[in-house]
Parts: sequence; structure tokens; C-alpha cells
Amino acid sequence: METPTLAPTPEEQFQARIDADVRIEPKDWMPDAYRKTLIRQISQHAHSELVGMLPEGNWITRAPSLRRKSILLAKVQDEAGHGLYLYSAAETLGTTRDQMLADLHSGKAKYSSIFNYPTLSWADMGCVGWLVDGAAILNQVPLCRTSYGPYARAMVRVCKEESFHQRQGFEVMQTLCEGSAVQKEMAQESLNRWWWPTLMMFGPADDASPNTEQSMKWRIKRFTNDELRQKFVDMMVPQAEFLGLTVPDEKLKWNEARQAYDFGEVNWDEFWSVVKGNGMCNHERLQARVQAHEEGAWVREAALAHAEKRQAREAVAVAA
Ligand SMILES: [Fe+2]
Ligand SMILES: [Fe+2]
Repeated sequence: METPTLAPTPEEQFQARIDADVRIEPKDWMPDAYRKTLIRQISQHAHSELVGMLPEGNWITRAPSLRRKSILLAKVQDEAGHGLYLYSAAETLGTTRDQMLADLHSGKAKYSSIFNYPTLSWADMGCVGWLVDGAAILNQVPLCRTSYGPYARAMVRVCKEESFHQRQGFEVMQTLCEGSAVQKEMAQESLNRWWWPTLMMFGPADDASPNTEQSMKWRIKRFTNDELRQKFVDMMVPQAEFLGLTVPDEKLKWNEARQAYDFGEVNWDEFWSVVKGNGMCNHERLQARVQAHEEGAWVREAALAHAEKRQAREAVAVAA
């Protein structure tokens, strides 16, 4: 007697689509946990873009030339745009922008811990572009193939702009490194402060990252944190050498057998402390966001009133 074949469950059909690299779209059925994980990941990413404007915004008025100022302004504006695409992508999953912003402002939602470090010198504009945007690119390029359609499509444009950001950061570093001894020293001092926090951007080590396996299965994540961290080190060390800078890690060494760099251990106590709100700028960053939101209330009201007026006008035109 033949065993009856059971119809696949919605979960099985969903997983089969993901395995076949078919994108999941907003109206498709999806497991609750997939929806929740994505809302958390995309909104966290959107918040990082918004908060990420603050450390660089800090230097717009003090950029050393008009050329540098206009490049930095354009970059900071790009980050605002990234935030907007990402909030829109998250909204397709059933949350609202008001809810996401309320969670950011109350401290419930997280953003990348890197933005809780201060930008103390002009060279930090170089390091943020070169290292922080460099790390963002490594994280985000695989997300152009992530399983959720609106997220994947938003990432395509974001990644194009991130590569411009990284090039401009590298160019700031190169100019300083080819400049006076004091400028070169400024570049080295900045690298010393940003190197380790940037390595932390990839998140906890794989054995301390319990959600990685499920996220890989859902293709929300395509590489593990440690894999991405290794790629970053392998990509950045030759660039630092080209600049004539020293990476602040005594254990850094080329491993011929692995064809990759060995490197020292990240200070995870510092990482968790910053994630929990005790970084140098956590308080200042949140306060700046809340203040900007409150001061922008009249703009939102005016935009809304304009939209309502236009709709009313269109309704009259249709009726006539
Ligand atoms: Fe960005
Ligand atoms: Fe960027």
C-alpha cells in the first residue's frame, strides 16, 4: 500500500521558496518569527543610519575646506536617505514609523554601537568613512540578496552610496598620511581609537550569537559575524599598510596556511557595556535624536496638512 503524501505545511512551502532563492514579498504568508526578526533587524539598521549622522554632523561646520564640507554634507544626507528607505521597508511588515521611532527614543530599540564613540579630530571623518562605512559595506552587500524583497531592493542603492562613502573616507586618510608629520600622527591616532570598535560592529563571536543559525536558514543573514570580521581584517590591513599606518593589534599576523590574517581578541566587555547604554556618547546621541524629532514636529504637521489639502482637491476634481 502506498503511504499517502501529506500536503506541505505553510512553513515548509515558505522554506522551500527561500531555499530556491525566491524573494518573499509583503503580502506573502510568513512565519511570525520571520516577520518579527526582520522588523527588529531592519529598524535597527534604519536607526543606525539616523544616529550615524550625528558623529559626522559634528564636523560639518569645521571641515577644513569648502570641498571637504560639501562632500561631508552629501554623505550625511545620504545616511538620512538610507534611514528613510529602511523605515519604508520595515513598514511593509506591518509596523509604523511612529512605533519604530518611539522605540528608538525610549531606548528599547538598539542601533549600531559604533556611533556611541566620539569624533574628536578631523581624521575621524577619514576613519569613519574608511573603516565604519567599509564594515557597513561588508555587512550590507550580502543583504542585496536577502530573502525579503523590499529589504534587498533598498540595499542595492544603499550599497552604491556606501562605496562612495568609503572612498571619500580613504581619500581623507590618504591626504593626511601624505601631509605633514602632525597630520600623519592625527591619522594614526584616529586609527588607534577606531580599529577595535569597528571590529565590534560585526556583532558578538559566532559561539555567542544564538540567532545566527535561524537567520542563515531564512537567508536574512548570509555570512556569520566571525566570517565577516575576518573578511574585514583581510581587506583593511593591506589598505592600512598602503597608507603607512600601523594597525593597533600586536597579534596581527599573516597566516600562510589559512591565507588570512590572525588577529587579537576583541574586548567583549567593552562591546556589551556600550550595547547596554554605557558608551561614551549613548546619552548624548539619544538626546540629540529626541530633540530633533520634537523640533521637527511642525514640519511633519505641515507636510500632513498639505497632503490632506491635495487629497481634498483631487476628490473635488474627480467628482466634477
Ligand atoms: Fe548608510
Ligand atoms: Fe555610509
